Amino acid sequence: MAFPTGFLEDLRTRVSLSTIAGRKVTWDSRKSVAGKGDYWAPCPFHQEKTPSFHVNDREGYYYCFGCHAKGDAVSFIRETESVGFMEAVEILAREAGVPMPASDPREREKTDQLSELARVMEMAVGFFRLQLKTGKALTARAYLESRRLKEATQDQFEIGYALDEWSGLLTHLRGKSISDKLIVESGLATPPEGGKQSYDRFRDRIMFPIRDARGRCIAFGGRAMKADDGAKYLNSPETPLFDKSRTLYNIQSAREATGKTGKLVVAEGYMDVIALVQAGFKAAVAPLGTAITEHQLQMIWRLCPEPTIALDGDKAGVKAAIRLMDLALPLLEAGKGLRFCMLPEGLDPDDLIRTQGAGEMQQLLDGAGPMVDLLWQRETADQNFDSPERRAALDRSLKANIAKIKDPGIRVHYEAAIRAKRLELFRPATRNLSIQKGQKPRKGIPEPATQGTRASLLRAKDGDARIRESVILAACLNHPELALKHENGLERLTFVCHDLEDIRQTLLTQMHQTPHAGPDPETRNSILVKLMSLGHVRANKHIQATAAPELAETALLEEMYKISAVRGIQSEERDAAEELSGIADEGVTWRLGQASEARNKAMRAEPEGEKPEDNPDLARSRHLQDMIDGQIWVKKRK
Ligand code: UTP
Ligand code: MN
Repeated sequence: MAFPTGFLEDLRTRVSLSTIAGRKVTWDSRKSVAGKGDYWAPCPFHQEKTPSFHVNDREGYYYCFGCHAKGDAVSFIRETESVGFMEAVEILAREAGVPMPASDPREREKTDQLSELARVMEMAVGFFRLQLKTGKALTARAYLESRRLKEATQDQFEIGYALDEWSGLLTHLRGKSISDKLIVESGLATPPEGGKQSYDRFRDRIMFPIRDARGRCIAFGGRAMKADDGAKYLNSPETPLFDKSRTLYNIQSAREATGKTGKLVVAEGYMDVIALVQAGFKAAVAPLGTAITEHQLQMIWRLCPEPTIALDGDKAGVKAAIRLMDLALPLLEAGKGLRFCMLPEGLDPDDLIRTQGAGEMQQLLDGAGPMVDLLWQRETADQNFDSPERRAALDRSLKANIAKIKDPGIRVHYEAAIRAKRLELFRPATRNLSIQKGQKPRKGIPEPATQGTRASLLRAKDGDARIRESVILAACLNHPELALKHENGLERLTFVCHDLEDIRQTLLTQMHQTPHAGPDPETRNSILVKLMSLGHVRANKHIQATAAPELAETALLEEMYKISAVRGIQSEERDAAEELSGIADEGVTWRLGQASEARNKAMRAEPEGEKPEDNPDLARSRHLQDMIDGQIWVKKRK
């Protein structure tokens, strides 16, 4: 309903926020300066010992530097009293001694209808509870026992039973002078149709009342006890009270519990929530038989900044997790995240707790991974990235996903995390660059080269490497667009000079974090100064900032290509040497041939007239050719 202009402002000035909040928190006397309207306390919205909750009394708003909760007096009351906007305003008005403005008749009517419906629902809760204690509910009680639901838990969740009758509840409610119209409106009975009387919606089912954040019963979930009894779960239909896309099971007690522990588990079904609570995980909620909606996600985030999603360990669970991730990506903000806990195949939290105990559940929750892990998993699971095309496809799809994140601060961190994972994934492939996969069988699977072995393998070439590597870096820094364009290639080259390798890593990490595709201008300049102190970098006109981009690109690619060729040949030589002592086969000949060809190709780009003694690469190439010509392994074999 709309309030008269200035009504809310008036309320806010009449009652200070520090008075309202002061009932829930204890001000820190050392940090607070009452005279300035400056109040600090440990935050009521998350667990902490230090005071990061701040009230600006003059402006009338609060902000927590820990959990980022923020708002005014109305939202404070809403959050701490678990009430809706209207109720919060009412509470504030009472406090201020201001009468609530008269509502228009239609509003009044709606409110009346809602409270009537809520009253009927409450009667149904009582009726179902009572039925569970009768002789007709023997099977139902046995069922609950078979599911290990303690008596206290049944009471806590007000679990009941709907008799196997067509008008048990109807008769009961009619006896309380409730009109059929209202019973049908509440969703407890079907509307009369085609000359047929209305009848109870829930029959022979275990009944779970669903309450909203204020504690009103707004719907029921009913579980069949037999596998073949229609739908396993039957929910109330949507009614003026019940909008299932805006409701979470167990929200009220979860709110209280999460306030104490700062933790929240989101499960898929009611039984999971009940089992979790019974096992001591009191802060647990679930949607109501549908995928989590945006509204529900926002509700969840209002309870807890980083809830743990515990979904069933089956295909449907993984699918639900992924759908939730897609929903959450654009909504992420600082202090709002999700963790995902994947349960073992075929188990939901209820099954897991029942068969493996609360300790195991705790371990799984503790091991829940951040959302970026799930994103990575979705994009890479069961795939092979052994070709540039596949890598490019992966990059494209990762970028598309990250682009969905609206919050730039979050996006930067996702990029960094994904970049680290990419480097990890692609790194082992470095030494196989010159080999076309699948052309020739290799013995066993190549071990990823470690930093150490790679360094020792290449130490001999340090001087050479330094020249190439510094030229590449200078070209990238002077022409960031080229760095971006050849990011893949750049990523696959591990530099052997440690200082230059550090720069390469910095460059890659920051490439997507800044608008200028690289380090911030200051860092960039200091790196360039260092690179320019090297004579050959200074002398290479093609890689300067003033050089034409095409020339710079050619220079960059040339150096990159040479490095990969050298790498290829070196690892091939090493492999060959290893194999020489064992059984040599034509595979060695073939690979050495391939490597040599790559080498020659690389050398063709060298300035003309260079002699082997001036150029260690060329010398190596000749040496290799001699080895091939001489077929030394064949001789050795006989
Ligand atoms: P599940 O099929 O995973 O059931 O449905 P569950 O939670 O493990 O229940 P139990 O352990 O077999 O008793 C998850 C949720 O999907 C909704 C319910 O809200 C349920 O909690 N659902 C499921 C329905 O609404 N209708 C159905 O027929 C089945
Ligand atoms: Mn289950």
